[in-house]
Amino acid sequence: MEELARALANSKNAIAFTGAGISADSGVPTFRGPGGLWERYKPEELATPEAFSRNPVLVWRWYRWRQELIYSAGPNPAHYALAELERLGVIKAVVTQNVDGLHQKAGSRRVVELHGNIWHLRCVDCGNEIVVEKPVAEIPPRCPRCGGLMRPGVVWFGEPLHRASWEEAVALASSADFVLVVGTSGAVYPAALLPTIAKRGGALVAVVDPGKTAFDDIADFKIRGRAAEVLPELARKVKDVLRSDI
Ligand code: APR
Repeated sequence: MEELARALANSKNAIAFTGAGISADSGVPTFRGPGGLWERYKPEELATPEAFSRNPVLVWRWYRWRQELIYSAGPNPAHYALAELERLGVIKAVVTQNVDGLHQKAGSRRVVELHGNIWHLRCVDCGNEIVVEKPVAEIPPRCPRCGGLMRPGVVWFGEPLHRASWEEAVALASSADFVLVVGTSGAVYPAALLPTIAKRGGALVAVVDPGKTAFDDIADFKIRGRAAEVLPELARKVKDVLRSDI
C-alpha cells in the first residue's frame, strides 16, 4: 500500500475507474459474484430495450426497487475517499459504470457516467429528460410534457453508450498516467477497454477488489480488499506522502 500511495501521490494525471463493487459497502448489490443481481434476475428480462417495450411495468418495478436501495444507502467511505483524492488534486476524474449517482453525492465533481444515471428519466415519445431526487411514485412514470412513457436514463444491454461520455472517458484514459480500478469485474465492454487504453498510453494500473478481475494481468498494483476499507487508508497515506514532500 505504501508503494501504491507513493506512486499515486507522484502521478500527474490519475483517474479512477469504478464499478458496482465500490457501492457494495453502501448495501447496493453488485451484478456478478455471490449474491449479485444477475444471479437472481435475468438481464435480458430487465435491462434491455426489448424487455422494456415488452413489460415497462416489470422493468420499472425493478428500477424503483434499485432506486429505493440506493436512496436509503448513500455513499460509503470509498466514495468519500475518492472525493478527497480529487480535492487533493490527485484524482482528476472518476469514470464510473455505476448509475447510482453516489460519487457525486459523496462530493466528486468530475464524474463521467458511462452507463447513465438511475435518477435520470427520459420520455420515449418526446425525448424530454427529467431528474428525480426520490424513487418514482407512479409506475410507469409519465412525461410531464407529453404524457408519454418515461424510461430510466440508463444504458441497457444492446444499446450504445452516450457518445459524449464515451469520448470523454477515452480521452481521460488515453492521457492518464495512473488508473485506480475499483470494484469492477471487467466483464462488460466497451467500458472494460479503458484500463487497457490507459496502460497502452504508459499509465500505471492499480486494482482494488476482494476478488479476481479481468484487469489483474495488467495491474502494476493489486490490493485485495473491500473498497470501503482500502480507499480511506490509501487517501490517508497519499496525504502523508504529499505532506512529507513539501
Ligand atoms: N469493494 C471492492 N470491490 C468489490 C466489493 C467491495 N466491497 N464487493 C465486490 N467487489 C467487486 C467484485 O469482486 C467484482 O469484481 O466488485 C466487482 C463487481 O463486478 P460486477 O458485479 O460485474 O460489476 P461491474 O463490473 O460494475 O459491472 C459492469 O455490468 O450489468 C452491467 O451495466 C452493468 O455497469 C454494470 C456492468
